[in-house]
Amino acid sequence: MSQVSEEKVWQALSRVIEPDFKKDLVTLKMIEDLKIDGGKVSFTIVLTTPACPLKDEMKKSCNEALATVDGIKDIEIAFTARTTSGSFAGKTPITGVRNVLAVSSGKGGVGKSTTSVNLAIGLKALGAKVGILDADVYGPNIPMMLGINTTPKQVGNRFIPPLGHGIACMSMAFLVPPGTPLIWRGPMLHGIIQQFVRDVEWGDLDYLIVDMPPGTGDAQLSLAQLVPLSGAVIVTTPQEVSLADSRRGLAMFQKVNVPILGIIENMSTFVCPNCSHETPIFSQGGGELAAKELKVPFLGRIPINLSIREGGDKGLPIGVGEPESPITKSYQHIAGNIASAISILNSGSKPIQIGNFA
Ligand SMILES: Nc1ncnc2c1ncn2[C@@H]1O[C@H](COP(=O)(O)OP(=O)(O)OP(=O)(O)O)[C@@H](O)[C@H]1O
Ligand SMILES: [Mg+2]
Repeated sequence: MSQVSEEKVWQALSRVIEPDFKKDLVTLKMIEDLKIDGGKVSFTIVLTTPACPLKDEMKKSCNEALATVDGIKDIEIAFTARTTSGSFAGKTPITGVRNVLAVSSGKGGVGKSTTSVNLAIGLKALGAKVGILDADVYGPNIPMMLGINTTPKQVGNRFIPPLGHGIACMSMAFLVPPGTPLIWRGPMLHGIIQQFVRDVEWGDLDYLIVDMPPGTGDAQLSLAQLVPLSGAVIVTTPQEVSLADSRRGLAMFQKVNVPILGIIENMSTFVCPNCSHETPIFSQGGGELAAKELKVPFLGRIPINLSIREGGDKGLPIGVGEPESPITKSYQHIAGNIASAISILNSGSKPIQIGNFA
């Protein structure tokens, strides 16, 4: 059997365009370990995030391009990832942490913490190493939602964050007895968050998710300034008033030059578990509309669902308890969209439009 031409293989792969970066895989140096053995061609595609949602599409395009090369009988494509790092708007990065993502909203109770936990589980399911910094020092509930019953180990003056379902977590809930009213004054809050950023051994993380406290006041603004964020997502509910709330959320991050990766609509329609009838309890489409009006990407929607709420209360997120549920897939879909948006941002191109939200 004649040997396949290596030159022709490279030529074919240089016609495959990476859908996010709009350049070919060879120019982007994404092809490694190319081996040709008789009629068998194998190589690895090096992604910028393990949570890349475009793997199947890229594989298909490579197979199609290589179909034009004579003599190929078998193609084996592997994937690996070297997650790129954010620029953190000139702030000192957290050691070992490549990207830091804020989950925020204009107002309370829309599901920020629930979304933070389920996105973390979604990113992990897609292969990423993930942590959550519970920045809600007034009402910290991430440890409960992740089912963590231990406290951080202290080594010298550094904390080792406990893991919940494989997600590293640091929270004020570990440091005060349950039920203690938490009243922080500005400088104290500053000190605590700084400790969470600097004195915690976060280890090797692709994504650190920051669950923000509700609101867009001074405390939240200084938090957004203090943590070296690579981007922020806004969680909203679908009713019309949510546009004003989202605008406030976006304006806050704009003030501190943190790019907005997009809007997630939470508590979309309710699907009756008995008759499958869909009821838009909080109206419909507000998240998408807000994204359109504010000129930011719409990242996806999550319905109102009993398992989401129960999963949060039990410390068993739906992505762990019901891995095959369509809602688990929706969280993974949004997680993939976010990972893509971060990769594009890290590549230096700026398709993410920063509108005027004030
Ligand atoms: N999609 C959903 N379906 C059902 N229940 C949900 C959903 N999202 C959130 N919840 C529930 O709504 C309540 C509020 O959610 P959560 O605590 O995540 O909101 P939050 O925005 O973080 O609130 P806060 O502003 O107080 O920090 C929780 O009981 C949670 O389980
Ligand atoms: Mg919360």
